[in-house]
Order: sequence, then C-alpha cells, then structure tokens
Amino acid sequence: MTRWLTLSRAAQLTGMSRGALQKKIRDGELASFDGLVSTEALGRAFPDVELEQQLEETGAFERIERIKLEAFGRRVRERVLPSQEMLAQRLFAQGQELAELRRHLARYHQLVTGVQERLATLLLQAPHPALSQVATQLDAGLAEVLGSQTPVDPYALMDDMLRAISARVTLRPSNREFLVEGNDTLLEAALKAGATPSYGCGNGNCGLCKARVVSGEVRRLRPSDYPLSEAERQQGCVLMCVHTAVTDVVLEALEARSAADIPEQSLVATVKAVRPLDADTLLLHLQTPRSNRLRFLAGQGATLGVAGSSTDFSADYAIASCPCDERNLHFHVRRDADDSFAERLFLGALKPGDAVNVRGPWGDCVIEEDDERPLVFIAAGHGFAPVAGLIEHALAAGTSESITLVWTAPPGGHYLANQGRAWAAALDDFRYLQLDAGADEAAADAVVAALAEAGVAPERSTLRAAGPAAFTAALAQRLTAPDIRYFEV
Ligand code: FES
Repeated sequence: MTRWLTLSRAAQLTGMSRGALQKKIRDGELASFDGLVSTEALGRAFPDVELEQQLEETGAFERIERIKLEAFGRRVRERVLPSQEMLAQRLFAQGQELAELRRHLARYHQLVTGVQERLATLLLQAPHPALSQVATQLDAGLAEVLGSQTPVDPYALMDDMLRAISARVTLRPSNREFLVEGNDTLLEAALKAGATPSYGCGNGNCGLCKARVVSGEVRRLRPSDYPLSEAERQQGCVLMCVHTAVTDVVLEALEARSAADIPEQSLVATVKAVRPLDADTLLLHLQTPRSNRLRFLAGQGATLGVAGSSTDFSADYAIASCPCDERNLHFHVRRDADDSFAERLFLGALKPGDAVNVRGPWGDCVIEEDDERPLVFIAAGHGFAPVAGLIEHALAAGTSESITLVWTAPPGGHYLANQGRAWAAALDDFRYLQLDAGADEAAADAVVAALAEAGVAPERSTLRAAGPAAFTAALAQRLTAPDIRYFEV
C-alpha cells in the first residue's frame, strides 16, 4: 500500500532540507502528488539507502536491527528523544491505528473467502466457464498475497519509528509544518523550525499563544492555562507554550506574516557573555527572562540601553541571532566613539549578570513566509550581524533551494569568517563568497561583479543586504530586482 508523506517528514527521513527536496521535485528527480511524496518515490530518488535488498536477505528481527543500525540509527540518536510517558502515548496512538487496520484486513479477508466459497458452491451446482475463470483468478491472487514476501519499504518503516519520537504539526491558515521533538512545547518547536506564531510570556500567563486544535491529540505539560476561558477550552483552544503534540496535529493559530504584525516590546534582559570577535568588535550575548521573551523576526533590530543608569547609554543594533534560538539574543557591537553604549561595553562596564534594557523590534529586512527561491544575503562590514540572524532563520525553516552569502569588508575585517566557511562546508546548497573590497560605496561594484561571476540571478532570487548607508545606497542603484530589502548598520 502506498504511503504518502509530507515534505517535512520526507526531509526528516532523508536528512535533506525541504527546499532541497522541492528542487528535486521541480527538476523531475522526485515524483510528488498534491505536495506529498510516496515512500516508493523516495526510495527511487535516494537509492543509496539500499535497504530493501539487504532486508530481503534477513529475517524479521534482523530487518529492524539493520534499519536501526545502518540507515536510521544515526538520525534517531541525533534527535532528542521524548520522555518515556510521551513515547508510550505516541506508541499507544499508533497501536490504535494498527488495531484499526487489522480489523479492516480481517473484514476484507472474510469478504474474499466468502466470495470464494460462494463461487465454489455455484460452480458445483452449474459449471460456467466465466465463473470458473473468476474463481481461478481469485484463488491464484489470494495464494500470491498470502504466500509472497512483499518487499519491505524502508522509508515507511522509518516513518513509523519517527512518528513515535516526533509529531508533525500543521499551522492553519498558513499550512506551515514543523515537527515536535523531545519534550518541546508546541511553541518551542514552532520557533525552532522558523515559524512565527503569536506569543508573549512563553510560560502560560499572557494567552497570546492561543491556538485551536483542529485535529490530533495534544497534552498539557504544565498546569497553567488559566488565560483561556471555559468557552475557549470547549472550542478546543490550547496554549502553545504549555502543550505538546502526542499525535500529528492541525492547529489554527495567529502567525506574524510581516514585521508590522509584531508589536513593540520593552523588557529587561541579562548579560550572559561578552566576547571579543576581533579587536574592534564584541559579541554581546543577552538572555531574556523565561516569562518575558522578545518576539521578533530574523533581520530586525532592537534598542539596547544600560539599565538603572540616569544617563541615556542606549543605541540601536541589529539582532544577530534568530528567534529559533530561544531566549538568546546576540549583537555584534563595534567600537564607536559616538556610541555611548558601545563605549561602556568596550570599557568593561557591562558584565555577565548585569541588566540591559531591550526595546523593539524594529526594521523590515525580514523574510516573510516560507521562501522557496534561492536566498542571497549581502553583508558589508558589520552588516554581517542581521545577515547572520537571517541565515540561521533560513536554515531553521529549510525551505529555500540554496543560500549564497557575500560578505565584503576591509582585509582582516571579516570578524566571523569561520562561521561563513563552516556553513559552506556543512551544507551542500550554501555558497560563501568573501571579498576584501571594504564596506563603502566602492564595494557595491565588487559585490555586483561577484554575484555575476557566481551566476546569481538577482531577479530570480530573494535578496537581503546590510551594511553602512553609503554601501546599501550604492547597491540599491546597481541592483534592480524587486523586493530587495536593506538594513543600515
Ligand atoms: S501564554 Fe504567554 S506565550 Fe503562551
């Protein structure tokens, strides 16, 4: 029986991104129907998982062992397993499905053997060549089904195992999909996967993460869903930050579709670490409180201020991390005599544990919705900060077919060049072009030339660029593709 999988599940099974699978579908290398792929088609497109042949040579027990060890084990071990209780609930749900299937099979079997007996009786009473032909066909067919060893579909088996350790969630109306692994709440899993649900406190107090369960089974992890009224509970509403998924689930939830959907927030975060990236750049790592997270989109900025100071030591910075990084906020702060917040940071006035005021987010250099087109990110100097957040988001969402990063800076100014190289080394569809062309107006020509040489077609890509104002203005004059967005640093 054909088993159909969503792209999220197929991506999980093959270890590829959804964007890479979508490209295979577009190139005709992977058959799909209505957005779904069959396990057979996956087997044909990825024959390197040559399990079928191996499995046929072994007994039932060895089959499972081989799957676990050779094809699936590594992927399972790499994932965070859910608690025993959750595992038991998921296995129970699958057991119910299996029992239902068995009941159906038993009924079909009864029906077929009934027809067989009836045909035999009729033929005894009055032999008829056509009836006799049907009876022979039925006998042969039944003998073949009962006697044959149907080849094992390795992807279907792996899918069964994955369903026990992770559940799939579909958000409506966007149809955005993500998987809930380990003991993550629905909200944590959504953010890790680059989704943008509405939320606030993250711990069951504000009610902003309310969602309606359309189908599937969820379970409450903490006893704090009092923001919901009795009527809302009756309608199947739950809080995404205190519930997890037991089975595959469809939820109706509010999502941010653009930067305008995110309200301005003010909170006090704590300095987790301050670390030099080079002589003139510090990485400021802040952590928001458990009960008051900053809701933002990758590519946005925030205003930071020294908490408790009578002088206004505040400045605007790009957020260099993505919302998928839970409560962590990263900023690349450069040495700047005109920036009193940066000055204090470089003087060592802010230490781990100190409080920092955070206000934001602002800016619209974001990627709205799932973008399947090639993504091109251009950073000049410290414009790498928002670009780093955007790339992390794109990797978490996994929907684009390829990513190109061009980073231009003065020689020695690529303060996180290793990060760019690491992405390129780890990901098949990631290209990193490093230019020593500076970060001013003249660098725009070098960037355009590098894009052309790399065969990047701006009009067929989604472009985001960040850098000093002179650079972004010069680039805007040279690139005419629609919907390019810029972030001035
Ligand atoms: S109740 Fe506040 S985010 Fe869930």
